[in-house]
Amino acid sequence: MTDEQRSKEIVPEDAWQLILAVRQKVCSDGFPLDGLALRGDPNGPAGFVAVNEADALLSVNRDGGWHSFVAVSDDVGQLFDLYLPVALASAQRPLTLAHLGQSLDGRIATESGDSYYVTGEANILHLHRLRALCDAVIVGAGTVLHDDPQLTARRAPGDNPVRVVIDTERRLHGRYKVFTDGAAPTRVFSRAGAGARPEPLPAQVRTLEIETEGAQIPPAAIIAALRAEGLYNLFVEGGGVTVSRFLAAGVLDRLQVAVAPLIIGSGRPAFTLPPVASLAEARRPPCRRFEMGEDVLFDFDLRGQDV
Ligand SMILES: NC(=O)c1ccc[n+]([C@@H]2O[C@H](COP(=O)([O-])OP(=O)(O)OC[C@H]3O[C@@H](n4cnc5c(N)ncnc54)[C@H](OP(=O)(O)O)[C@@H]3O)[C@@H](O)[C@H]2O)c1
Repeated sequence: MTDEQRSKEIVPEDAWQLILAVRQKVCSDGFPLDGLALRGDPNGPAGFVAVNEADALLSVNRDGGWHSFVAVSDDVGQLFDLYLPVALASAQRPLTLAHLGQSLDGRIATESGDSYYVTGEANILHLHRLRALCDAVIVGAGTVLHDDPQLTARRAPGDNPVRVVIDTERRLHGRYKVFTDGAAPTRVFSRAGAGARPEPLPAQVRTLEIETEGAQIPPAAIIAALRAEGLYNLFVEGGGVTVSRFLAAGVLDRLQVAVAPLIIGSGRPAFTLPPVASLAEARRPPCRRFEMGEDVLFDFDLRGQDV
């Protein structure tokens, strides 16, 4: 590495480009056995290249651990800590990550479904970055019904994920943005044998039927159907019912909960899980904490955890 490179600092915009370059490299080539090293002009716009050479800016191991060969600020270090483990998901090491933004008292929306916004700007940007790194973003019918979200990565440079809606009973009509805006492919999962929709979905929306267990579509069956399409990096964005079902089914690898300094006092809960008799049975998985504006993000590693 040249002295000029060594004296430079990686700024947040370039750190994000490095993270996207890691993602592209992993998607195209898988993770090289000898680790991944990235180089480029840290003060240039985009255009980092992934190489295995001695003049790298950053090296990354397969668990998301990293080493920078130039100066990085705490903010940039946080970007690498947060997003490299997500960027490294692959067919060999798929990832299912869920996120919820909740008030101090564990609510994700009011009773009427108002959730704009529980958490602050920094957390909203975080959601867009997760979308940009993932192959598919998954939401329940309740979220589409109340929020009419686009589920795109429009606030962060990167590609939009495939959008996946779990609409068991085919309750949703076809005029929501995820069905009509054409910003990314959309899939809808319903119960095999559910009744007719209030109106048909646009032709470009792919619908899939899955056998239920009780009233539920098994989350593992949704994940298996998406992996069969080559979608390995899955982001379950909400709402509370959907994330709780994935968590209870033991299929999440990571769970992120952003806690905002806000008390709602009533409303839709973040988590609804089967009761436990004692606190010893409550989950206390390994956890990292990140300050995110006024909010605190708890990032739980659920791999290898009993459920
Ligand atoms: N703060 C946040 O992080 C955040 C994130 C997203 C949404 N929200 C807010 O949360 C609210 C919606 O959340 P919610 O918990 O009420 O609903 P939700 O999780 O968005 O949707 C729940 C519905 O999704 C379907 N579903 C999900 N998983 C299923 C499974 N495994 N099997 C069968 N059906 C499944 C069911 O539809 P059927 O009822 O048709 O069977 C279920 O009723 C909205 O107000 C939204 O604004 C907040």
